[in-house]
Amino acid sequence: MTIEPSVETDDRDVHLAGDATWWRQAAVYQIYPRSFADADGDGIGDIAGITDRVPYLRDLGIDAVWLSPFYPSELADGGYDVADYRDVDPRLGTLADFDRMLRALHRVGIRVIVDIVPNHSSDRHEWFQAALAADPGSPERARYIFRDGRGPDGAEPPTDWESAFGGPAWERVADGQWYFHNFAVEQPDFDWSNREVREDFLTTLRFWSDRGVDGFRIDVAHMLTKDLTEPLPMRAELAEIPIDGRHPITDRDDVHEVYAEWRQVFDSYDPPRTAVAEAWVARDRRQRYASAEGLGQAFNFDLLEADFDAAQFRAIVADNIDLAESSGSSTTWVLSNHDVVRHATRYGLPDPDRAPDGRPTLKHGNEWLLSKGKSPRLDREQGLRRARAATLFVLGLPGSAYLYQGEELGLHEVVEIDGRDRQDPTYFRSPGVDIGRDGCRVPLPWTREGESFGFGAGGAHLPQPAWFGAASVEAEEEDPHSTLVLYRAALALRHELQSAEHLEWIETGDDDVLSFSRPGGWEIVTNFGDQSYDLRGAEVLIASAEIVGGSLPPAATAWIARME
Ligand code: NOJ
Repeated sequence: MTIEPSVETDDRDVHLAGDATWWRQAAVYQIYPRSFADADGDGIGDIAGITDRVPYLRDLGIDAVWLSPFYPSELADGGYDVADYRDVDPRLGTLADFDRMLRALHRVGIRVIVDIVPNHSSDRHEWFQAALAADPGSPERARYIFRDGRGPDGAEPPTDWESAFGGPAWERVADGQWYFHNFAVEQPDFDWSNREVREDFLTTLRFWSDRGVDGFRIDVAHMLTKDLTEPLPMRAELAEIPIDGRHPITDRDDVHEVYAEWRQVFDSYDPPRTAVAEAWVARDRRQRYASAEGLGQAFNFDLLEADFDAAQFRAIVADNIDLAESSGSSTTWVLSNHDVVRHATRYGLPDPDRAPDGRPTLKHGNEWLLSKGKSPRLDREQGLRRARAATLFVLGLPGSAYLYQGEELGLHEVVEIDGRDRQDPTYFRSPGVDIGRDGCRVPLPWTREGESFGFGAGGAHLPQPAWFGAASVEAEEEDPHSTLVLYRAALALRHELQSAEHLEWIETGDDDVLSFSRPGGWEIVTNFGDQSYDLRGAEVLIASAEIVGGSLPPAATAWIARME
């Protein structure tokens, strides 16, 4: 599928051709704006920095970018604490800068997805400030979740619930009431039974759609609606309530009424605006978010929690293709994002790696090990080999591939961040338990040397390690074997070969080797084992590691064509 910009001028918006299905098999590149490129030299990446790098994004060969929040924010949670949903953070630019960036991306055929954070706002949002200034029981408080406390003088929180970032989920305000925050204290949850809240988000969706954005990524899509009728259960009781659509705070069936309204907004545009749900829900409930009457697509995070293991990969792929078919959506694949340890590092940790209590810890790449800051057992080379193999496997699958900035450089997680430089609230709210997510959010290295490795003229807001120079765009562009060169070649080839959303498994006779074909005779082979695998004379189109003597080495993927 090629996307041709229909207008090529500087001063008018460039609308991409009206293909309503562009998202189904898109390669979407996630930009974490504060850490991508800093045009004004204040140490924080910005919108103009993205515009400057449009040629880089074009050459990478992606179909769309997803921008993590760039809205005004106190950065209590890396921008997921939004103070104004319809503006750009002044440190990152202006709406005019945003429009310029959007045009520049559209002009090279790249669509733009923005992040919508509807579960909670920032405590600096004007509505929350108004709620604090207003009385208990006021309409201003009714947009959020305020309750009286328990015990004498209401000095105890309404429940003993914990926030997802650690610590209590209720915070007391000056007049003695408490408000609910599922995440950081600075992120009060909205009350989605409030019509004003619903209307305001419809306005936000139209605001960005009118500016020309192509789609939305919906943060914590499963938590918006809640039933907080009193008496509220305590934590132990809450944990016993089945998550079957009627749970008080998560994955409630009535959340889909919200998305049905959103769908009407999406479908009022041509082409319809798209959406992808970030919904951490049980397997059999995920597709509700991906339905055509709802958001249309949902992230599948199963590979984030899997080992580099043929049986696990095969089961996950088969299962998710079935699931997507059941909702009419397409599958999504994610190996890295701004919330998890980079996959090059995850795959370099002992396999499977477990915390002392036996819990699998791969989701966050073994917080237990990384929190020691030394990772004594991390095998970086093996991690990168496997990461390249896993990426090439995923890019061969039907459906959308969501890539995270820096993975195209094969970046490892940065563990060398001093406590006093850390920013992530998960680190501060769970001392000694969770190292936090800063290690995958370190500003990108663009050049081998120089101030912040080319990120900007004013340093980097998180410290970059010395090894970033060798992993920079400049260094990798010059190395034909680099991960950047591999990603560019793979994405270009994927465009050429991309075919119907279907795969056929090919039995390889080796439990450690997975292979499948795509319509059109394109075959993907991944060797998860530690012995080479004979490709039996196939023509190799691209490989994640050197093919020696017609064999696929351990921890490698090849895309092949069979000679007739
Ligand atoms: C999910 C986002 O990906 C994460 O970064 C954020 O901290 C939480 N939602 C809360 O908004």
